[in-house]
Amino acid sequence: MNVYQAVESRRAVRGFLDRPVPVEVLRRVLAAATFAPSGSNLQPWHIYVVTGAPLCQLKKLATERVTAGDPWDEREFEMYPRDLKSPYRERRSAFGRERYSALGIEREDWEARQRAAIANWDCFGAPAALFCYIDRDLGRPQWADLGMYLQTVMLLLRAEGLHSCPQMAWSQVRRTVADIVSPPDHLMLFCGMSIGYEDPAVEYIRTGRAALDETATFISD
Ligand SMILES: Cc1cc2nc3c(=O)[nH]c(=O)nc-3n(C[C@H](O)[C@H](O)[C@H](O)COP(=O)(O)O)c2cc1C
Repeated sequence: MNVYQAVESRRAVRGFLDRPVPVEVLRRVLAAATFAPSGSNLQPWHIYVVTGAPLCQLKKLATERVTAGDPWDEREFEMYPRDLKSPYRERRSAFGRERYSALGIEREDWEARQRAAIANWDCFGAPAALFCYIDRDLGRPQWADLGMYLQTVMLLLRAEGLHSCPQMAWSQVRRTVADIVSPPDHLMLFCGMSIGYEDPAVEYIRTGRAALDETATFISD
């Protein structure tokens, strides 16, 4: 698989097979991903990889919590600005339409949307997950480094025949994640990532993208 194929075949997969992911494969991927760039080579990520019984326990606790309607943990960062302006607002709405129409859920059917969202905390059935933390004293450029690192991980997973779904949803139940991974106080959870073999029976709609001219400007003579 070349880099274009890895980039084009990566997508947020929300349906995984029960097939285990060998820990050696995850080690190989994370070892290669350490070569991701970061400003002044700070490597500001700290990753917990969770599989097996601890992941089952985490899924159980998180899903029970969400199903019981427990309030989210207090925010350590805003996932999105409160008043999302154009064109981001429209892109977010388009994403919601794409995601829920793939599941046959009507836009107004809030309960069905909630039920679909709960699958986040079951890792969409994935047998492996990672949780990406950052030192809370670091700043915006280091958060950008996390993004580069996580994309590197997701592309390497494609090279191993695996798929993934990055999930900020886990930050909403960060205390439950902390109960399982016991991070030191100076670390803050950015997101989780479900990892596994895709279930080909799960239908999806490939998300669209803005035209290149909307997001890139080429300046030349
Ligand atoms: C930082 C980050 C957090 C995300 N959080 C979630 C999430 O909590 N749940 C989810 O289902 N998808 C989540 N996604 C997946 C995005 O919805 C998805 O990447 C986007 O819609 C583009 O679709 P694609 O990845 O399939 O190309 C997240 C993606 C990123 C990069």
